[in-house]
Amino acid sequence: MEVIINPTPEAASQLAARKIAALVRANPGSVLGLATGGSPVAVYRELIRMHQQEGLDFSRVTTFNLDEYLGLGPAHPASYFNFMWTNLFQHINVRPERVHLPDGLAENVPASCLAYENAIREAGGIDLQLLGIGSDGHIAFNEPASSLSSRTRIKTLTERTRSDNASFFGEGEEVPHHVITMGVGTIMEAREVVLLGFGKGKADAMAAAIEGPVTQMVPASALQFHERACFLLDEASSSKLQRGEYYRHVFANKPAWQRV
Ligand code: F6R
Repeated sequence: MEVIINPTPEAASQLAARKIAALVRANPGSVLGLATGGSPVAVYRELIRMHQQEGLDFSRVTTFNLDEYLGLGPAHPASYFNFMWTNLFQHINVRPERVHLPDGLAENVPASCLAYENAIREAGGIDLQLLGIGSDGHIAFNEPASSLSSRTRIKTLTERTRSDNASFFGEGEEVPHHVITMGVGTIMEAREVVLLGFGKGKADAMAAAIEGPVTQMVPASALQFHERACFLLDEASSSKLQRGEYYRHVFANKPAWQRV
């Protein structure tokens, strides 16, 4: 597990974007797992810049998003479908037929979840999964007490997550109670995972995920068992880590061939 403490969220986002760009350049047919929320927005902005100014080519890339609100269709302004098209997809040359999000309007939810898992498998699995982290340690919408082997399925949001996400909804508009989300087991099968978490509000979750026991009460802690997981923090989100100095030392002394 790699823990990188960055001076600012912007620096961390640039690093994440460089990792994604390096992967796409090495393998233009990469399969990317993508996240929504506030944390990845600057990563997407940098990928758009790389596409527009450096010709980063997404035409053969396939994407799978982590989650979607149940009951929200693509046209809803707070849907993750809309978020992804607004913040990334409409600005790059990704092919619409290669973009996948869970179906928020699915009539048969279990069948739709199974189809999503099958589509990931048929695409050859996810090469790199981008993640945020909830203030309660959730990844995707796997809230505390989610099975660490879980697959794509329906989940009920905690009131804390609903209130954390309320800013993405219009005034007086209800945040849905239910979502479709990749499971922790689905995420663990990605070949590489990059988790972003910034600000004081993420410090407890980051410390618990990185240095606490592996427990379903902190779903992100499952990543301690991942072969290639990279946590990208800023100063504020790293403030509760016990071994912060060591992580800084490791990063400062990385061999040149390991740098992106
Ligand atoms: C989003 C997702 C969530 C968020 C998490 C952090 O697709 O799956 O797990 O990554 O709630 O959200 P932000 O980045 O808004 O703090």
